[in-house]
Parts: sequence; structure tokens; C-alpha cells
Amino acid sequence: MIPLRTIGIVGGGQLALMMAEAASRIGLEVEVLAARSDDPAARIVPRTSIGDPGDPSALRDLAGRCEVVTFDHEMVDPTVLGDLESEGFVLRPGARAMAVAVDKERQLEVFGRLGLPVPATTVARSLDEVRIAIDAVGGTAVLKVAIGGYDGRGVLLGATAESATEWMPDRPVAVLVQPEMDIDAEIAVQVVRGADGDMVVYPVVRTVQRDGMCAVVQVPSRLDPEIERAAVDMARSVADEIDVVGVLAVEFFIVDGALLLNEIAARPHNSGHITMESSRTSQFENHLRAVAGHPLGSTELVVPAAAMVNVVGSSRTGGGYGILPADVAVHLYGKRPRPGRKLGHVTATAVTLEDATERALRAARTLENGASTS
Ligand SMILES: Nc1ncnc2c1ncn2[C@@H]1O[C@H](COP(=O)(O)OP(=O)(O)O)[C@@H](O)[C@H]1O
Ligand SMILES: [Mg+2]
Repeated sequence: MIPLRTIGIVGGGQLALMMAEAASRIGLEVEVLAARSDDPAARIVPRTSIGDPGDPSALRDLAGRCEVVTFDHEMVDPTVLGDLESEGFVLRPGARAMAVAVDKERQLEVFGRLGLPVPATTVARSLDEVRIAIDAVGGTAVLKVAIGGYDGRGVLLGATAESATEWMPDRPVAVLVQPEMDIDAEIAVQVVRGADGDMVVYPVVRTVQRDGMCAVVQVPSRLDPEIERAAVDMARSVADEIDVVGVLAVEFFIVDGALLLNEIAARPHNSGHITMESSRTSQFENHLRAVAGHPLGSTELVVPAAAMVNVVGSSRTGGGYGILPADVAVHLYGKRPRPGRKLGHVTATAVTLEDATERALRAARTLENGASTS
């Protein structure tokens, strides 16, 4: 297999931005298909075209100018991706892996086929079916759109028949209905799989979500090594089963001491941003290495402990970020602040997880509030 040099990225968000940063360091060329000219990657990548990722001709043009195409998000139509593959374009991950990654219902089918433990789930296809399913689990549930939700926006926690009616999307879409569980902890595993099936795995991270959105990520997870090993095995088996190329992020719940497989993303993931400072090779560099057919880099932990905290817009966030904290790695994506919007993240490394977490939390709050207090 001849290693490739030019990579097209569908989507211009922060993942594309951080892929572009990694690419420039290792001498790979990226071209971005962004929805808007002020998208994070569009602002720094000279070879950016503006277009709709759902438009087959925009995707075909990008694929025609690059040796391989990869993705910043899941807002793509797997059928269109399949058409491009049959025309001879190289997509990594491919259409088959993307078809699973974009659809939580298909993810559950794959996990089921592999015999992996998942949360009790009913798939509802109308508001009536949603209401019946909520009733069946005692009147309160968690609702998730199968396709097209991200950053907690496709999820309704504490759903009742009443709030479900308001939340239900207008478009026809399958909705997963689950009992609202008492979760002991959440963890994530990043697997990187090369086109030849070779795999490397990052150390397991612990994730803490706020309002359904990832807020804090910590490494090491400090959980039972047995649980960690089981999670890594499951993540690897899913990566093989869907034949993914690139990063596969796998999210788990721990409930009553047992693992449940929640969902996957076939791209670099928020829970892996910490690898930029905590591991020998970042998830972004390894994603590019994998999709371009280069050998994968070491995932070895290079610090005793690290914590990543997202910088999220609030009603207090102004147009800037005030003074940059000096005791963390700062990653700001250049997005216009809006309440609830991920604007960046910070990562602190330290000897203890407590120190790292405290420093990262403090730095993120400073950045979130900086503009209004300065
Ligand atoms: N069945 C559930 N019970 C309790 N909390 C849940 C359940 N499902 C999801 N959550 C919480 O909501 C978060 C987001 O849900 P997830 O299914 O991962 O959707 P998303 O695609 O938005 O990441 C999870 O990380 C978890 O904290
Ligand atoms: Mg999730």
C-alpha cells in the first residue's frame, strides 16, 4: 500500500481544525469542505471550499482533488458515500462503517450481533410509540434520535410523555427510548485502526457529562483494570466488525459495576482531545496516519495524569476570552460564543489527577467568564 499525502476532510469544525494542525506538523496536505467560511478549520486551512456536505457534487469535487476523504462529522448520507466508493474514490472510514456510525439504531444491531451488553432500548417510530415506551419504563425515560443528533442535542434526559411531545423532531426519525439509569461512571476508549487492520488503543479515559454533553475527561480512569480490559476488547471487536479505518471512539456506561456499550463515533472524538498532551501521538495525528496509510504512532501515556475540560459558551461569555491561563494547554476553536456551544478546551497535566482536574476546571471557568469580567 502506497502511503497517501492529500486528505480531504468533510466538515470544517474543530475536529477538522485539529486534524489540520496535526497534518501541518507531519507534512500531510489537507483540503476542507466547510459549510461556512468562518468555520474553525476554514479560518486556517488555505485549501477550503464552501459547500453543503449533503451535496453529492460537493463531495465528489473534494474526492476528485484528494487521494482520500475523511470526516469531521456524521452529517453525511451513507448512500451517497457508497456511490462515491463505487466510482472509485477512497473514503476512510468507508461507507459501510459510516452507515453504522451515523445511526444509533444500526449501532445497537452491530453490538447485538457481537453479543455485547447494551442499555435496554426500545426503538420507537412515532410519538405514540415513544409515549408507550416511556410508560413501559415507568413514566420517565431517556430519548435519543437515531440519526442527526450531536452534543446532547439529540438526547432528552428525564423525558416524560409531555416533554417528549415538545422535543420530538418534525422530521421522520427513529427514536431510541431507554430507562434513565443510575450511572456509576462513564468511560471511553479510542481505537485507531489502519487500512491493513492493524490497531492501536489509547489508555481508557473517564468522562463526566453535564446536560448530556461531555464536560470533563480524565486519564488514567482509575477504574478496575478488569473493566478497562473488557472495554478495550469490546472496542476492538466493534472496530473490526465495522471495518473502520481511522479513530473509533467507543463510549461505555458502568451501571451496578457492569459495562454497557453506549455508542460509537468513527472519527476523532471529544473524549480523545486529551491525547494531544497525554499520549506520545495525538488522536488527530493517528487518525491521519490511519486514513493515509502510514504506520500508526504510539499511544503510550507520557504524563502521570491529565484532565481536559471543555470551554462552553454561557450567557456570561462575551466576544473574547480575557486573559489566557498559563498553567494549561489552551485550545480555542475561533467560534463565535453562544450559550451551550463548545468554544474550545483546556488540558492540564500533573502528578495527580486531582491537581490536573482542579487546574483545568479553573482555567476553563476563567476563559468562559473572561470576557465579561475583564
Ligand atoms: N439511558 C441513560 N440513562 C442515564 N443517562 C444517560 C442515558 N443515556 C445517555 N445518558 C447520558 O447522556 C449522555 C449523552 O448520551 P449519548 O447517548 O452518549 O448521546 P450523544 O450522542 O449526545 O453523546 C451520556 O453520556 C450520559 O451521560
Ligand atoms: Mg455520547
